[in-house]
Amino acid sequence: MYNQKVMDVFANPHNVGVIENADGEGVVGNPTCGDIMKITLKIENDRIVDAKFQTFGCTAAIATSSTANDMSVSPEINLLGKTVDEALKITNAQVVEELEGLPPQKLHCSVLAEEAIKKAVEDYKAKQNA
Ligand code: FES
Repeated sequence: MYNQKVMDVFANPHNVGVIENADGEGVVGNPTCGDIMKITLKIENDRIVDAKFQTFGCTAAIATSSTANDMSVSPEINLLGKTVDEALKITNAQVVEELEGLPPQKLHCSVLAEEAIKKAVEDYKAKQNA
């Protein structure tokens, strides 16, 4: 059901883990399936210098969260080096394109990555304004 690229990323996801004392943290869940994704960001001068994720979810959720964290992917969706406002523009459609597609019934899983990034950036911005 998944293409080879998705399977490769799923089998060898990048940047798995949690950043201690993260500057931004985003946790989202899919109420339908119960899958959960957490992204933690290290941010210096509004620029993302490190990103890690933990995903308790399906193959598509793991592959999309890894892809949005990966230095080897297209610069348009690679979080590392982006400003926080640039990170807010990453869409699940871009991540799916980088993975060369997901089965239609799995497209919704890719939304978790986009939402987790947005929440992590919002968390960072809220802390800046505290
Ligand atoms: Fe839950 Fe994919 S089935 S995120």
